[in-house]
Amino acid sequence: MLPRIARVRRRRHDGPQVWTLELEMEGNAFSCFAPGQFNMLTAFGVGEVPISHSGNPAAPDTVVHTIRSVGPVTTALTELAPGDPVGLRGPFGSAWPIDEAAGRDVVMVAGGLGLAPLRPALHRLLAERERFGNLVLLYGARSPDNVLFRREIENWRRRLDVEIELTVDHALTDWNGHVGVVTTLIRRAKFDPGQSIALVCGPEVMMRFAIAALRDVGISAKGIYLSMERNMKCAVGFCGHCQFGPVFVCRDGPIFRYDRVRGLLGIKEI
Ligand SMILES: Cc1cc2nc3c(=O)[nH]c(=O)nc-3n(C[C@H](O)[C@H](O)[C@H](O)COP(=O)(O)OP(=O)(O)OC[C@H]3O[C@@H](n4cnc5c(N)ncnc54)[C@H](O)[C@@H]3O)c2cc1C
Ligand code: FES
Repeated sequence: MLPRIARVRRRRHDGPQVWTLELEMEGNAFSCFAPGQFNMLTAFGVGEVPISHSGNPAAPDTVVHTIRSVGPVTTALTELAPGDPVGLRGPFGSAWPIDEAAGRDVVMVAGGLGLAPLRPALHRLLAERERFGNLVLLYGARSPDNVLFRREIENWRRRLDVEIELTVDHALTDWNGHVGVVTTLIRRAKFDPGQSIALVCGPEVMMRFAIAALRDVGISAKGIYLSMERNMKCAVGFCGHCQFGPVFVCRDGPIFRYDRVRGLLGIKEI
């Protein structure tokens, strides 16, 4: 339960109200994690919040978090400068099912900040590319300004072994990509629904529509995984703050197989 101390090494603006922090653990300690897991970050004197890992799991000497400033704690975290301390507990929670995906096509559907928790999964899938079938990332952002990790996305797009499709809800004339919601990309993407695994992350309403579209093209409920968010305090299954029906999001999630939680989606507090 006691936070370790990390320090901000670098801070990058990644979109409106979004910053990516690179942290190093005090004493050059490593912080290993599995894609999909999260840390509890403390802004000293303000509070503690859950934030997903967004870095490369193969580089555990750098802890990376992409944070949208929405309230007191996230605002304090995004205002930290290089050298400032951050409290860190974790990693916590379940991971994206990368090993189960071996030999299958993998389709990732991300909405908005939902790309951040999927980024470590994509790093690992690309690092072990030969183990998987087709890899597809479908990413929807509100507007071109809100597209995260732009430079990295351009680099991924240059590879011939991963299909990356971007769409935005609204755009002016300087955008020549897709316009529309991310679910419209699912039908056109190249994957075999009969042997695919889908990883979905974004606002809950977006995930509900994405899951419906994935089910429509033939992916089974057992082939779909999603990342859930609920308010948290302890992050270790003691306090009950993150209760989600019969499960705790901190301990049993945040990554759930869809058939385990389908009856609970869309219900705010249960
Ligand atoms: C497992 C997990 C992973 C997360 N990963 C990230 C991440 O990678 N990057 C990131 O920016 N945020 C992430 N969040 C959300 C983040 O924890 C909240 O935005 C944060 O707790 C808000 O705290 P605050 O004090 O800044 O604002 P508050 O004043 O607590 O909240 C501001 C607004 O955000 C809403 N809110 C607070 N917590 C949540 C939540 N968990 N889910 C949905 N709405 C919430 C509140 O209802 C309120 O409207 C994650 C949450 C969870 C549970
Ligand atoms: S946050 Fe305390 S039980 Fe999940």
